[in-house]
Amino acid sequence: MPKPRLSVIGTGYLGATHAVCMTELGFDVVGLDVDPAKVAKLSAGEVPFFEPGLGELLRKNLDTGRLRFTTSWSEVAEFAEVHFVCVGTPQKKGEYAADLSYVEAAFGTLAPLLRPGALVVGKSTVPIGTAAWVADLVRALAPEPDAVEIAWNPEFLREGYAVEDTLHPDRLVFGVRSAAAEARLREVFAPVIEAGSPVVVTDFATAELVKVAANSFLATKISFINAMAEVCEVTHADVTKLSEALGYDERIGRRFLRPGLGFGGGCLPKDIRAFMARAGELGADQALAFLKDVDAINMRRRARTVDLGRELLFGSFHGARVAVWGAAFKPNSDDIRDSPALDVAESMQRNGADVVVYDPAAMENARLMYPQLSYAATALEAADKADLVLLLTEWAEFREMDPAVLGGVVAARRIVDGRNALDPPTWRAAGWTYRALGRP
Ligand code: UDX
Repeated sequence: MPKPRLSVIGTGYLGATHAVCMTELGFDVVGLDVDPAKVAKLSAGEVPFFEPGLGELLRKNLDTGRLRFTTSWSEVAEFAEVHFVCVGTPQKKGEYAADLSYVEAAFGTLAPLLRPGALVVGKSTVPIGTAAWVADLVRALAPEPDAVEIAWNPEFLREGYAVEDTLHPDRLVFGVRSAAAEARLREVFAPVIEAGSPVVVTDFATAELVKVAANSFLATKISFINAMAEVCEVTHADVTKLSEALGYDERIGRRFLRPGLGFGGGCLPKDIRAFMARAGELGADQALAFLKDVDAINMRRRARTVDLGRELLFGSFHGARVAVWGAAFKPNSDDIRDSPALDVAESMQRNGADVVVYDPAAMENARLMYPQLSYAATALEAADKADLVLLLTEWAEFREMDPAVLGGVVAARRIVDGRNALDPPTWRAAGWTYRALGRP
C-alpha cells in the first residue's frame, strides 16, 4: 500500500519538527506557513530557531526530494491526504484564555479546498471543546462534508529534545470519532508504533485534556518543590537535599523536582492559565483553583530572586553593575517566551541596576524584546567589573565556570544561583558570597 501523503500546516517549533520527522520516517511531506520568510528559510535548509539536531535532519530530508515548504493552500490541499495543523495558540493579550484565531484561520482556509478522503489532524494545544467546534466548522465549509474527517493528536515535545520526542514519543494520543480515522492515524504513525510507543485511542475532549493535564501536572510538580523552597528559606533547611531525598521515592520520582527560579516558556505558563479560563467557562473552576497557586508560587520565585540580589547589594540596585547569565527560559533553547531570567533582569534594571546579559543562544531574541538591557559577547565579559552575578538559566558553560577565573574579572565575588546549579562549598571556598533559592 502506498504511504499517505502528508501536509503540515504551520511550521513553527512543533510543525517544522513534525514535517522533518515524518519525512525521516519515509513519508512525502509538504509544510505550509503563511510567513514567506519562514518558508524560504526552511526551503534553504535553515531552521529559524535553536533546536539541536534539527538542522542536519532538515537538510538530509530536503535532499531526498520528499520534503518541501510552501505558502500555497491549494498546493497543500491538492497534494496531501492527511493534514496536520500545528499552528500556535498563544495567550490572549490581557486575559488568561488561549487565542484561537490561528487555529480558526488554518481549518477555515483549508476546509473549502479539501479533497474527498482527507483527514485533518489538529496537533495544537487547545481548550477543551475546540476539536468539536473545528469539526463543525470544517463540515460547514468543505465541498464534500461527509468525505472529510477531523482528529486530534496532541503533541508533547520538549524544546531541546524535539526530534527525539517526535520520533520516540512516550505515548501517542488519538482523539477520533470513527474507526476509519483511527486506522488512518495508525497507518501514519506505524513506524513510531512499531518502535514501541503506546497508543491511547479516545474521544476529542479527552485527547485535548491529556495535553493540558500533563502540563498542569508538570507545572504543579515544579511549584510544589518551589513552595518547599519557600518553607526551607524560613526554616534554614536545604531544598536541594529535600528534593534529592523525595526523588528516591519511586512514587514521587526525581524529574521536574528541580527547585529554582521556576518554569517559563511558551507552554507551561500559558497552558495552565488557558486551562483555568476554560474550566471557568465550563463551570469547573473550583477543580482547578489550585493552579492559581501553582502560577503564584512560580511568579514569587522571580520576585524572591530579585530580593536575594538586592540583599547581596546591601539593599539597593542603584548604581550596581549586575551580570545576568541566561536569557532563554531553559538551557539548550533560544526561546525567551515568558523567560524567568529576562523577567528578573528587567526588574533589576528597572530598580536602578546596570544589567549586562549573556546567553549562549538567545541573545538575538533577547535584544529584540529587551533593548533596554545591555548585552555582552561572553559570560566573562558580562561579569567584567560586576558587583553581582546571577545564574538564571542553567547552561552547561555556566555550571562549569571556574570560580577563581570568574573571581578575577568581577568587582566583588557575589553570586545568586537561581537554578541551584553550582556547588556552594566550592564557590564559598573560592571567596564567593553564594546565595541560592531555598538554601541556607
Ligand atoms: C513543556 C512540556 O515538557 C512538553 O511536554 C510540552 O509539550 C511543552 O511544554 P518545554 O516548554 O519545552 O516543554 O520545557 P520543559 O522542559 O518542560 O521545562 C519547562 C520549564 O520548567 C522550564 O522553564 C524549566 O527551566 C522549568 N523546570 C523544569 C524547572 O524549573 N524545574 C524542573 O525540575 C524542570
